[in-house]
Amino acid sequence: MIKLGFFYWPCGHHLAAWRHPQGTPDCGTNVAHQISLARLAERGLFDLIFMADSVTFWRGDLDAMSRDSWGTAVEPFTLMCTLAQHTRNIGLVCTATTTYDFPYSLARRFASLDLVSGGRAGWNLVTSGNKLEADSFGLERHPDKSDRYARACEFAHAVRGLWNSWDKGAFVRDTATGVYFDKSRLHVMEHAGEFFRVRGPMNVAPSPQGEPVMVQAGASEDGRALAAATAEVVFGAHATLESAKEYYSDVKGRMEKLGRDRDSLKIMPGLSVHVGRTTAEARRKHDQLQDLIDPAAGLELLSRRLDCDLSGHDINGPLPDIPQTGLSTSRVDLFVDMARRENLTIRDLYRRIAGARGHMEVIGSPSEVADLMEQWVREEGCDGFNIMPPVFPGSLVDFVELVVPELQRRGLYRTAYEGTTLRANLGISRPAWRP
Ligand SMILES: Cc1cc2nc3c(=O)[nH]c(=O)nc-3n(C[C@H](O)[C@H](O)[C@H](O)COP(=O)(O)O)c2cc1C
Repeated sequence: MIKLGFFYWPCGHHLAAWRHPQGTPDCGTNVAHQISLARLAERGLFDLIFMADSVTFWRGDLDAMSRDSWGTAVEPFTLMCTLAQHTRNIGLVCTATTTYDFPYSLARRFASLDLVSGGRAGWNLVTSGNKLEADSFGLERHPDKSDRYARACEFAHAVRGLWNSWDKGAFVRDTATGVYFDKSRLHVMEHAGEFFRVRGPMNVAPSPQGEPVMVQAGASEDGRALAAATAEVVFGAHATLESAKEYYSDVKGRMEKLGRDRDSLKIMPGLSVHVGRTTAEARRKHDQLQDLIDPAAGLELLSRRLDCDLSGHDINGPLPDIPQTGLSTSRVDLFVDMARRENLTIRDLYRRIAGARGHMEVIGSPSEVADLMEQWVREEGCDGFNIMPPVFPGSLVDFVELVVPELQRRGLYRTAYEGTTLRANLGISRPAWRP
């Protein structure tokens, strides 16, 4: 069965989504609209809704930022707590950074989301792709990637230790004897590492799924190592099936070497879907969005993703040499390779990534979309997809009404939720805790 995430992004994933005549320009802060999208995804039986995050603007260039709808949105954790009250089955996954947070506060927050949602929380661990976050926290500079991942690794360990403060059934709440919890089933973690000293226990009881699902999206050597060791869901960005297959076999192979069951991790790369009842209709929808791209916003997107200011360059000329700054090595390589391989101008390249930012993009009829999804799963490119609708609400409606029935008809997708927790629907049990 194909696993599906609904990758929420304020107005839709296409750069020009907020300018679309049927779009919702204030979607990033319109909570009623966000609730209706989550319910729609639940109607489509998605495993989870995911919201990414950066704690601050991506760049300091306010002129360019002022032409972009992505900069401002409700803080994801707050939104997930709200959505928990308006949905019943769908998993609620959001980003929280290990670079600008502490294990205890993060563990406690996500355990609480897990409780209030009845066992549907997931934490997308990131080390922060936005170097400007350093300014928000008064740091001299954004730490190097290897330092960020070293901290993330210890952070994840400490969080899981806190989530394992309580054994199942620890809360006896026996009114007759007056025993509220059984202290023999309480574990006091004493963590002392390179980055943190953390003393448990955590003062939140476990949810029906035991602990939140660990999600990650690392693509570099450090990122893959952390994913293989800790993640239960991995998002990724692959523009080709070959790249997805390489990642899949590498990360699942690493898991086996660490003694983890391959199936305890679901790999779900992003997929941008422009679907219509016919191929021609899908193309028309795609072209309409491409025509709305503002060149200034396109250039800004590319500069941000390449971590290189391209503003002085001729957009009709070739991509200049891009120095590696170490911010997101894998994504920079992907875009530079794409430009060189296909001889793209700067303008061509930002138009290519405006819809999906380097994730796979499919434009076609329901059966063409389902063909691609089926092939990727059958050939071990992934276990499912993180669906990135280009514009809200229309593209999510299209996916639920056109693609979901086609996947169901092929026996590739559920026709009802298996359970009420995220783990039950993903088909992954709670991992054993190793101190
Ligand atoms: C679907 C997806 C969602 C991501 N969400 C975030 C996010 O919310 N915040 C962030 O700083 N980085 C985010 N990232 C970046 C990843 O955490 C990771 O840094 C990136 O994939 C590059 O991998 P690396 O860190 O191993 O180089 C995301 C990546 C993907 C593919």
